[in-house]
Amino acid sequence: MRHLLDTKGLDRRDALRILDVAEDMSATQQREVRKLPTLRGKTVVNLFFEDSTRTRISFEAAAKRLSADVINFSAKGSSVSKGESLQDTAQTLQAMGADAVVIRHGASGAPQTLATSGWISAGVVNAGDGTHAHPTQALLDAFTIRKRFFGDASRGRDLSGLRVTIVGDILHSRVARSNVWLLTTLGAEVTLVAPPTLVPQDVTAWPVRVAYDLDEAIADGPDALMMLRIQLERMNAAYFPTEREYSRTWGLDAARLAALPADSIVLHPGPMNRGMEISAAAADSPRSTVLEQVANGVSVRMAVLYLLLAGERTEAEEDGR
Ligand code: CP
Repeated sequence: MRHLLDTKGLDRRDALRILDVAEDMSATQQREVRKLPTLRGKTVVNLFFEDSTRTRISFEAAAKRLSADVINFSAKGSSVSKGESLQDTAQTLQAMGADAVVIRHGASGAPQTLATSGWISAGVVNAGDGTHAHPTQALLDAFTIRKRFFGDASRGRDLSGLRVTIVGDILHSRVARSNVWLLTTLGAEVTLVAPPTLVPQDVTAWPVRVAYDLDEAIADGPDALMMLRIQLERMNAAYFPTEREYSRTWGLDAARLAALPADSIVLHPGPMNRGMEISAAAADSPRSTVLEQVANGVSVRMAVLYLLLAGERTEAEEDGR
């Protein structure tokens, strides 16, 4: 794998390959000595132009558990505030010996630019760009769903037969976009539920069903319900109901949690707005996978860095696609 920029275009074999390598990585994390020598001598740069808790720390933990050296760069407090460009910032880090650059950026397409511009030779991993994509989040969500439903029999399996409902601020969500492409590639049926003003106009081209009533969607009996964070910082021109109205109509409260099928699970990528899109009762319930998602994120990112830096080619690359 040369770069990981998006889940749109990631085919089923390559997606399963990442999830299966993540299974191997997860198994190593149960051992007393968790550190592997695999990426000794490699340098991973975390290049974060937007805030992050989970993704940045998770990539750092993943790289360190594979024995890579890690350089953490945050735009805050850097020469970006003096006007330094993405090109100059990236080339500066490359000059320090980066083998992989993990980038989060507020502009959709920034990782693609970095990967295709010829500015750097390092592999590029998209850690979230604007409203466009967050591929490792979708991979860890798929990994978590697969693990919960298929357990030890997960390896090699896709998500055929499972129904996933994604609820909330679809318009601004790179997590929703990456999940739609990955989950449907893996055979899951995906339904989106949102206020009409928070559904993107191009959703008609997505392989999903769109609904507007959360109670009806819950009565439909989804296997997994993924609640999204309301991104108030990106709301700009979009009409947003009051927070109270939002939580009453589209929030996962205790009553809606109780109405879900007994074996269904609740995901949230974090950070959560407790009391708005998800109640504390739902976030902390046994069917919530929020902390499993965080733990699985390390295994999935170990798999991605391993496939990127340890010389393994994807099936698509083997086929010359
Ligand atoms: N889920 C996610 O991307 O969280 P962070 O913004 O904390 O990285």
